[in-house]
Amino acid sequence: MSFTPERYQINNLNFIPFISKNEVDNAILEISKQINFDYKNSTPVFLITLKGAVFFAVKLLENINLNCEIHVISAKSYGSQLESSGDVMIKAEELNLQNRDVIIIEDIIDTGYTMEKVLSVIQKTSPRSVAIASLLAKPEKACVDIKIDYLGFNIPAQFVIGSGLDFDEKGRNLSGIYILEE
Ligand code: IMP
Ligand code: MG
Repeated sequence: MSFTPERYQINNLNFIPFISKNEVDNAILEISKQINFDYKNSTPVFLITLKGAVFFAVKLLENINLNCEIHVISAKSYGSQLESSGDVMIKAEELNLQNRDVIIIEDIIDTGYTMEKVLSVIQKTSPRSVAIASLLAKPEKACVDIKIDYLGFNIPAQFVIGSGLDFDEKGRNLSGIYILEE
């Protein structure tokens, strides 16, 4: 079963289907396969950024066949706005990533400020390597240069919801990606 209305409204904003659940699932499966290959000699630590990346993370991790660990980190930037505030709050459990191969699982990289902050927190724990897996990226909006090692889709500079992404905490449970109707 999946939740795929033809139009989804939040506070007078209309969202319409943009990337289907099938396309999302296929892209995630390809990322899983690539990570299985790239890390076959490692025991990586997956770090899920809450909350948006949870859906992506579950689908990705279902197909990971490596010995691995899974941790979460909370990075919050948006509130109920459509534009990134640049203000990022990070909350992490005690992270011991010394000499570990870390793979950050993120929902979307927009300006890149959130990922920059997450990376700086992780780097302090002296990991052996850090890679980024992001379901989506908006290259036209990038303000900092972030290397995305595993990417689902580049999308235009428009607000999207679904597959874990929200507007004002709503829309995460939509299947596939929905885009704000102009
Ligand atoms: P950045 O710091 O501008 O790169 O923003 C990254 C964070 O903002 C992401 O982890 C999301 O939580 C949120 N975000 C950015 N763009 C969107 C969007 O189009 N829809 C929903 N959330 C978004
Ligand atoms: Mg996020």
